Amino acid sequence: MNKRFKRTLITSALPYANGPVHIGHLAGVYVPADIYARYLRLKGQEVLFIGGSDEHGVPIALKAKAEGVTPQEIVDRYHFLIKKSFEDFGITFDIYSRTSSEIHHQTASDFFRKLYDKGEFIEKTSEQYYDEEAKQFLADRYITGTCPYCRSENAYGDQCETCGTSLSPLDLINPKSTISGSVPVLKETKHWYLPLDKHEAWLKKWILENHKEWKTNVYGQCKSWLEMGLQPRAVSRDLDWGVPVPVEGAEGKVLYVWFDAPIGYISNTIELLPNDWEKWWKEEDTKLLHFIGKDNIVFHCIVFPAMLKADGSYILPENVPANEFLNLEGDKISTSRNWAIWLHEYLEDFPGKQDVLRYVLTANAPETKDNDFTWKDFQARNNNELVAILGNFVNRALVLTQKYVEGKIPVRGELTDYDKQTWEEFIGVKKEMENYLELYRFRDALKEAMNLARIGNKYLADTEPWKTAKTDKERTATILNISLQITANLAIAFEPFLPFTSEKIKRIINKETLNWSELGSIDLLKPNHPINQPELLFEKIEDETIEKQIRKLQDTKKANDSKELKAEPIKENIVFDDFTKLDIRVGKVLECTKVPKADKLLQFKIDDGLGGRTILSGIAAHYKAEELIGQNVCFIANLAPRTIKGIESQGMILSAESPDGPVSLIQPVSDIPPGSKIS
Ligand code: MF3
Ligand code: ZN
Repeated sequence: MNKRFKRTLITSALPYANGPVHIGHLAGVYVPADIYARYLRLKGQEVLFIGGSDEHGVPIALKAKAEGVTPQEIVDRYHFLIKKSFEDFGITFDIYSRTSSEIHHQTASDFFRKLYDKGEFIEKTSEQYYDEEAKQFLADRYITGTCPYCRSENAYGDQCETCGTSLSPLDLINPKSTISGSVPVLKETKHWYLPLDKHEAWLKKWILENHKEWKTNVYGQCKSWLEMGLQPRAVSRDLDWGVPVPVEGAEGKVLYVWFDAPIGYISNTIELLPNDWEKWWKEEDTKLLHFIGKDNIVFHCIVFPAMLKADGSYILPENVPANEFLNLEGDKISTSRNWAIWLHEYLEDFPGKQDVLRYVLTANAPETKDNDFTWKDFQARNNNELVAILGNFVNRALVLTQKYVEGKIPVRGELTDYDKQTWEEFIGVKKEMENYLELYRFRDALKEAMNLARIGNKYLADTEPWKTAKTDKERTATILNISLQITANLAIAFEPFLPFTSEKIKRIINKETLNWSELGSIDLLKPNHPINQPELLFEKIEDETIEKQIRKLQDTKKANDSKELKAEPIKENIVFDDFTKLDIRVGKVLECTKVPKADKLLQFKIDDGLGGRTILSGIAAHYKAEELIGQNVCFIANLAPRTIKGIESQGMILSAESPDGPVSLIQPVSDIPPGSKIS
């Protein structure tokens, strides 16, 4: 460790307690954080590893409402499930607490109040939707309505999930409250904002100049945020679930979940070390590290540091080794679509195989880009690497020891040149591993550890102790001594990655503790030290087992498809007069271009037979602008004009949309002049 630092504080993102945890969580955040924490502890360093559940926020409140229970019931259900999964997978948090705790509420409240008293916030009044029946302001997710771009009727106040456009509640046509179903009204409300723009200068210097060593995915994201320019961010919300804003006249308002959650790292430290927490957060010789996924980068690199700086008494993170995402069999992991491997379900199907998953997720970690988990890869890595390399070597060394030297460490004779060469190669790996671990390159570090087992296998294959046993007892003793020293070394090298396996090896070789500094030593096991009966470290995973898992996912996919493909219910009947009010026409596309800063929108210039008009349509995801020029389309000619992104749209182009996504323009079958009426 760099001399500047005496201790390391490791935080890992607090998962939302509104669902169980899956392999994506483990691969992206918790396994890497745990590897690093274990590594530092093995080196004898002072480490604190903080975890916990993030229990506030709108989705949790919404889920509670949907199920007719309190938000506390929801978070109780998942907090304990999540905590148990982490324990089961050997994630060695020093504390795993939760943001609904009293101590967290107090800490977050005090944190806010100090910033408030120091004048670190600005107050702003804005108009927001209010549900007069439910008597409450509506968070973006509590409002649904028609999307102004694609006309889907189920758009949320923050996003239309049909066309993917981000929205603000004011964009919705026919907004409706999801709480009472009533039409919300606009009402003034006051909120507190953290003026990030005032922090921009030091953040730029701190990150862009002084932390060029951060991972490129992290640095790049920060850079683009900082270059776009920072805006004040609201740190409070009108909601009844969360930490109340500790200011007079703020009834019905809570801290924004992204304000209180990172303070959870601090409150959990206080809960663990009520009298000794401050040195971990306030002394310059503490190295603070945040392990997170890529969707959390801005909050940990920009917003939370600005909060800490605004307080003035805290240190800032030294690094934020964020990972990209892990996909599952080619598709994005999704809780709502049940497209995930849940940790508790994995353990039901693969009891005792925690290390296999830890291994595969590390070997294939999304460290620099999104990666894909597939069951075939899982099987291949288990069978070809864990079983065939690591398990095979350790097992052979142990079985031969029982067979030829009575289960005791034999006395080593003179080393041959080949022995010396093997050992040299072996000890070189330690430095390599350390270099990778210090750069948070855990997959490379793991590869090096596996190389140690490879060296062991090659050593046994080349020296053939089963042959020398017949002719040369002393040589056999030397070979087995070296093989057992390698085995003991493997227990050290793999400890951060495969803790259960490492424990098992240590149990068998009858050696309780081994430290990182001993890695590379040829004298870990003394002559005559007795070892226990061997056990297999890993077992082959058969095709059937894997096929069963693949079928399970295929079933999920089928269930999702049939759910999604169900056509929407028919709307209420209308009379013929209602229909004739619509003036639908054929037009020819003269020009078509993408609208800047709007991913989904195309701007059409249409020959309507009446001198031309401009229409915007949210189909950019489905058609290239160029390919539409010259084509006939159908449009509603008498829809009142609307201005979207500063452009007046004079009508609406008709298209059909399948419930599972594809969109098709409606076009006349034969060529017909612009302006032709449709009925
Ligand atoms: N709950 C957030 C998520 O799952 C992470 C919160 S991290 C913390 O994306 F900093 F807020 F704790
Ligand atoms: Zn839409």
